[in-house]
Amino acid sequence: MKIGLLTGGGDCPGLNAVIRAVVRKGISYGYETIGFRDGWRGVLDSCTQQLDINSVSGILPRGGTILGTSRTNPYKEQNGEARIKENMGRLGIDALIAIGGEDTLGVASKLYKSGVKVVGVPKTIDNDISATDFTFGFDTAVNIATEAIDRIHTTAESHNRVMVVEVMGRHAGWIALYSGLAGGADIILIPEKPFDLDEVAEVIKKRHNRGKNFSIVVASEGARFIPGSEKDKDGKLILQDAKLDAFGHVRLGGIGNLIADGIEKRTGFETRATILGHIQRGGSPTAGDRVLGTRFGVYAVDMVKDRKFGRMAALHGNSIEDVDLGEAAGKLKTVDLELFKVAEVFFG
Ligand code: F6P
Repeated sequence: MKIGLLTGGGDCPGLNAVIRAVVRKGISYGYETIGFRDGWRGVLDSCTQQLDINSVSGILPRGGTILGTSRTNPYKEQNGEARIKENMGRLGIDALIAIGGEDTLGVASKLYKSGVKVVGVPKTIDNDISATDFTFGFDTAVNIATEAIDRIHTTAESHNRVMVVEVMGRHAGWIALYSGLAGGADIILIPEKPFDLDEVAEVIKKRHNRGKNFSIVVASEGARFIPGSEKDKDGKLILQDAKLDAFGHVRLGGIGNLIADGIEKRTGFETRATILGHIQRGGSPTAGDRVLGTRFGVYAVDMVKDRKFGRMAALHGNSIEDVDLGEAAGKLKTVDLELFKVAEVFFG
């Protein structure tokens, strides 16, 4: 059996743990693993990387992906699907393991429907893939954001400032909610709950009236104003770049600055914004993400062995199981609003 392996979409701490696990588990069955470079681009252009026991040695604690990644969409390329099938045939690849988020897995699901033998492994720091309780990478991103919030606390307190921390999370506020809860945020703003800056300012004023001289606001990059509450910005996502990538996504970022300006104007309190950006995606994975990535990788090889194509490895409670790839990739997992209510107890 020859397995083709690729990592697509934004990089994510724990990808190398999955790669290592796929190669090592494959070896235990006598399988060969061929890596494809830079996500779907490598499969389209037949750009491969040999993966053996030595090439995956020492990569477990490393961030990023040794295979490289891209946001290439084969369905936006000429004869994309046919090229993938042709290259797999020529290289003698029996099955593909695609590690990625909604876009990479969406492509995997389409390929499966057209006859390609593929299984999926869910990856994203955003934790927004449905059908799995958690994705690897999320725990690392939350820990990085929490550490940043802890650090921002001490400078906020020293300067009597309001500090707005903008974290990643394009469509879902999981990173904001978890890091905000863990870091003791005074307000958390997420895409699932559009906000009114007047209300945010009131909460901060009340907090300062009870003797506090600083506040921490954690906002997802995808947070948005309630329609009608903020001129020109009504309900819109705040973009860094309106250009669309191959999957139709814009680049978000900058809501933190608007929130900071709005708070300062309404409260008179000095306010600053910090955008954490790609720091949340870089560097070494937490122990939890290494373990989850390893379990997904081992399970994915078993899915190939058991011919469970068109399926995705998923975490349910403490078990790894498999779910329909199309269903998992086609539906976003947004924040649990019951958990948001827990965070609200500590607002203000
Ligand atoms: O999907 C993961 C993610 O990190 C989002 O939170 C963020 O909006 C996006 O990727 C950033 O993508 P890029 O690396 O292309 O700037």
